[in-house]
Amino acid sequence: MVPLTLAEHGELAKGRLPAVIWDFFEGGAGAEWSRRANLAAWRRHVLRPRVLVDVSAPDCGTELFGDRLAAPFGVAPMAYHQLAHPDGECATARAASEAGALLIVSIFASRTLEQIAAAAPGAARWLQLYWLRDREALTALVRRAEQADYRALVLTVDAPKVGRRLRDLRNAFALPAGLAAANLDAELTSSARQSATGRSGIEEHSRQQFDPSITWADLAWLRQRTRLPLVLKGVLTAEDARLAVEHGVDGLIVSNHGGRQLDGAPPAPAVLPEIVDAVPADHPVLVDGGLRHGTDLAKALALGARAALVGRPVLWGLAHGGADGARAVLDLVREELLDTMVLAGRPTLADLDRDALAPWPATAA
Ligand code: FNR
Repeated sequence: MVPLTLAEHGELAKGRLPAVIWDFFEGGAGAEWSRRANLAAWRRHVLRPRVLVDVSAPDCGTELFGDRLAAPFGVAPMAYHQLAHPDGECATARAASEAGALLIVSIFASRTLEQIAAAAPGAARWLQLYWLRDREALTALVRRAEQADYRALVLTVDAPKVGRRLRDLRNAFALPAGLAAANLDAELTSSARQSATGRSGIEEHSRQQFDPSITWADLAWLRQRTRLPLVLKGVLTAEDARLAVEHGVDGLIVSNHGGRQLDGAPPAPAVLPEIVDAVPADHPVLVDGGLRHGTDLAKALALGARAALVGRPVLWGLAHGGADGARAVLDLVREELLDTMVLAGRPTLADLDRDALAPWPATAA
């Protein structure tokens, strides 16, 4: 089967992956309300097509923090790509580079920052961090990211600990032998490898390593340690968006972490407009969660996002087809976006404004 939709990439991946890994990728926290809400939320808007517009040359190219992208999209930071494919993040980096997408590398990448950079030297890549109790380890990562030409730092702020993911607890999920957080000391991540009935190695590990005491006041410490733009991921209210700007943050990612953290957190499209309105226009607001078609990306842009990130579908592509599979996923999203722009009579990104959307109360369809 040649997959024609992201969902079909998902089916192929599900057929390939061990069930416990599929569950780790797919699962959310608690009752998975937020995970499901993410998928439904994009359907609560309809596109308002304009007709008799010259759509012979649609253009979705853009620039973000000085890097050129083929479309306003990227790969969301996700831990341990080697769970999907032995080439791990190096394959994802090649895919993103060839597709002209931004790659955000997770602090829990299974290949080193330097290996990932070498796999796709010209690509736009950012590094995502969690605030570790060990600040020396954090500082070392920032230095390495700067040296390996990562273009921004993303601090994920919705995870004082990892959410209660029932699938992982039931599966006693732990990292398989041979797989590690390649950018952290083995000692720092060894707990992620230990499983016990009813426990998740990933959750144990976060409890030990993540610093749940940090506040806005601590951001200055990180701000002072880097010249790179700083982006906060996991902001879901206008109040926090304003605080972020006051504390020197350069951009935001509106995200409920794919429904993996606070179950009951809103899907991003529900809060994106209030956040876009709360921050100055020169602070890019990105979004992720439940994007499964180019029309979803078009809607994200129309709600004011500068770019949107794709999470699980990239792992699906990687799982069944390595770098080529991940690239096919990203190419499909871009092609579907262009198709949407043509058929909606909105051939430039500027045409995808709030006027391009109308609310649609029904969740059916
Ligand atoms: C994630 N996500 C995530 N986020 C983050 O900031 N750091 C991380 O290390 C991870 N790891 C991770 C692993 C896996 C397997 C998944 C599925 C997700 C969250 C991710 O960046 C993003 O917010 C969501 O995945 C986006 O939603 P979709 O596109 O997966 O629905």
